[in-house]
Amino acid sequence: MSVRVPAKVNLQLAVGPLRDDGYHELVSVFHAVSLFDEVSAAPAERLTVAVEAAPGSVTAIDGVPTTGDNLAARAARLVAAQLGVDPAVALRIRKAIPVAGGMAGGSADAAAALVACARLWDDPDDPALTRDDLMELGAELGSDVPFALLGGTAVGVGRGERLTPALTRGTFHWVFAIADGGLSTPAVYAECDRLRDAAGRPVPEPGVSAGLMAALATGDVDALGAELVNDLQPAALSLRPSLRRTVDAGRDLGALGALVSGSGPTCAFLAGTADHAATLATELAAANVAEHLLRASGPVPGAVLIASPAHFAR
Ligand code: C5P
Repeated sequence: MSVRVPAKVNLQLAVGPLRDDGYHELVSVFHAVSLFDEVSAAPAERLTVAVEAAPGSVTAIDGVPTTGDNLAARAARLVAAQLGVDPAVALRIRKAIPVAGGMAGGSADAAAALVACARLWDDPDDPALTRDDLMELGAELGSDVPFALLGGTAVGVGRGERLTPALTRGTFHWVFAIADGGLSTPAVYAECDRLRDAAGRPVPEPGVSAGLMAALATGDVDALGAELVNDLQPAALSLRPSLRRTVDAGRDLGALGALVSGSGPTCAFLAGTADHAATLATELAAANVAEHLLRASGPVPGAVLIASPAHFAR
């Protein structure tokens, strides 16, 4: 079984107060973009994980665990436990989503492994695990996993795992600036807390941006660009000051919106059209403010089955 799964960018990431369980109350407007990992699952004697860069991809894969700690392996064990089978599966992950880049690549792989393993072990005519069950298992694995299953554009609340699809019109075109090296999500949230403590202001409860939802519903790309907001951006810039130059360069070169994606260090730039995205990517490359530049569009569907295992033999 092979499953294709998209990266995400947060169009709004409103980070509320730190909760007692160590997570932050969020409003996260997730948007799935056409940058995909593929996960294949094949019967094997025991659980193994292999990771490779997707053909033509610039993603550096060192740092992705190939042990039982890999989020995809944990997903496989979770599905196996639910179905009462041995987690005897060879998982192969082809990565195009930047690693530790703020685009939920690890969560995407976990979502894909949930779908692939459920397909491998569950009864296709009378499945024990519904799509809702997989969403719940996904939330156990990580806050961004349910969205990788759902895809499209959706508002997440709680830890970001309770999702409602959002109305959108049309396709949006993006350029992503991939940095050299990743950022740790917990470290960025901790830096956000530290900056807030130092500022000494109370942290309001997060709320969904009405302006953003209106821009999405009408497909108004200029308004969308103006509404993009990420509360983690000051923390990401504090830990990686060079990102400020990247964000500023995109804005100076005419991006309709420019921000750090999630916990970073990937930066996202909204373009007006596909042609505009191509020009913007070329100009950002010439400005030398990122390791690599990628183009993608959204929204795209969440994790989908693409083929039998023979697909990976090509
Ligand atoms: O849920 P996930 O394991 O992907 O979260 C990774 C880390 O991000 C958490 O350990 C926590 O430090 C931080 N986080 C948070 N509040 C959220 C989601 C994630 O503080 N709502």
